[in-house]
Amino acid sequence: MSKLGLDLKCVYNFVSEQEIKALAPVAKEAFHTLLEKTGEGNDFLGWIDFASKYTEEELCDIIDTVKAIKKMAKVLVVIGIGGSYLGAKAVISALKPYYPDKDDLEVIFVGNSLSSTYIKETLEYLEDKDFCINVISKSGTTTEPAIAFRLFKELLIKKYGKAYASRIIATTDAKRGALRQEANKAGYKTFIVPDDVGGRFSFLTPVGLLPIAASGIDIKALVKGINQAYNDYTKDDSLNNQAVLYAATRNALYRKGKVIEALVTYEPKVKYLSEWWKQLFGESEGKDGKGLFPASVVYSTDLHSIGQFFQDGTRTMFETIVNIDNPDKNIVVGHDEENLDGLNYLEGKDVNYVKDMATLGTKLAHVSGGVPNIVISIDKLDAENFGYLLYFFMISCGISGYILGINPFNQPGVEAYKKNMFALLGKPGYEQLAKELKKDLD
Ligand code: PA5
Repeated sequence: MSKLGLDLKCVYNFVSEQEIKALAPVAKEAFHTLLEKTGEGNDFLGWIDFASKYTEEELCDIIDTVKAIKKMAKVLVVIGIGGSYLGAKAVISALKPYYPDKDDLEVIFVGNSLSSTYIKETLEYLEDKDFCINVISKSGTTTEPAIAFRLFKELLIKKYGKAYASRIIATTDAKRGALRQEANKAGYKTFIVPDDVGGRFSFLTPVGLLPIAASGIDIKALVKGINQAYNDYTKDDSLNNQAVLYAATRNALYRKGKVIEALVTYEPKVKYLSEWWKQLFGESEGKDGKGLFPASVVYSTDLHSIGQFFQDGTRTMFETIVNIDNPDKNIVVGHDEENLDGLNYLEGKDVNYVKDMATLGTKLAHVSGGVPNIVISIDKLDAENFGYLLYFFMISCGISGYILGINPFNQPGVEAYKKNMFALLGKPGYEQLAKELKKDLD
């Protein structure tokens, strides 16, 4: 039985059930293209059954590595960008408490920007702390993590001398790339990013599992949830399959001019799920002049900022609400004799109830303002449910991409900025482009 609710009631004013059902044949074909691996990008489908093949030994290797890190360090510095960090960041942010136990291993992410301030301040923060590094790069050559790795490794060497290498875990390609070569030469512990798994689909490989385990989250429960979703979403090619239905519905909305999909959460901890989801759908679908633009909001916070636009602005978007039915913690509004704030009408009500009414009120307002709402719900924020949810999105994304008629598993568009940046930085091999850019800039 599905661990997830998918409610489309607030979509039908904009696309009818019949219009969604009319997409069933193309969705069915897309499902088979994905699962039978017959479409473009079919050499990047290793993620589909990856988690179902984990052996006890492989999971224990990750868990034992974390135990070894904990013996040496109070902080794990995770270096990676894009698909090499967003999955772990999403899971850790969602499942760890806002104020984690001070005795927990602290997991911090670097190498995901070019902020010199962040790098410098993090290096200063680590100066008097024992730390290890998990450097994650499939290609092993991505500029942001490569720069961070060089700088954080320098600090490791300064602090621990020759023993620095035992504090580095490299997650990279099995054979190729600069990081693999360095790991082999220096003798780092390594985990493999499989050839047939792209970055944005890699949270279920050691790319995600090692940092997630390091943060104290039960990776066996996460893998269990992923495998439940794998069983639930890879068998049925009809609209009874929620992953097929979600893919068909968002495409039906897209065909009606709803070209922006905003993922909505009312739980700030879930913000990084949205960041991961934006990469997943944005990098998979935004190509060949097509695709839904993936945006995100955290309500009720953003109702006080961008909420105006959702209610009243250009009518090109729909919302997909990720609802967490049961919060980890709840708190009741108390009585105040004077009632100067006028809140006694909420006395005895819990804050989550207030949130539920805000959700309902916003949904009604936005739908009547012309914004369709899809509602996805999970019972609670735990490893099993969250693994299930992420896998649901991954399967839906593959199906949705094939419905759109693009290759969901490449990302040719991300190269353009890199080439320009390399030329401007004077990287060897980019001299000609540098000359051309200079002409354009003059
Ligand atoms: O999804 C992708 O392919 C990208 O986001 C990559 O994950 C990102 O660019 C990092 O690449 P790499 O792991 O090779 O350093």
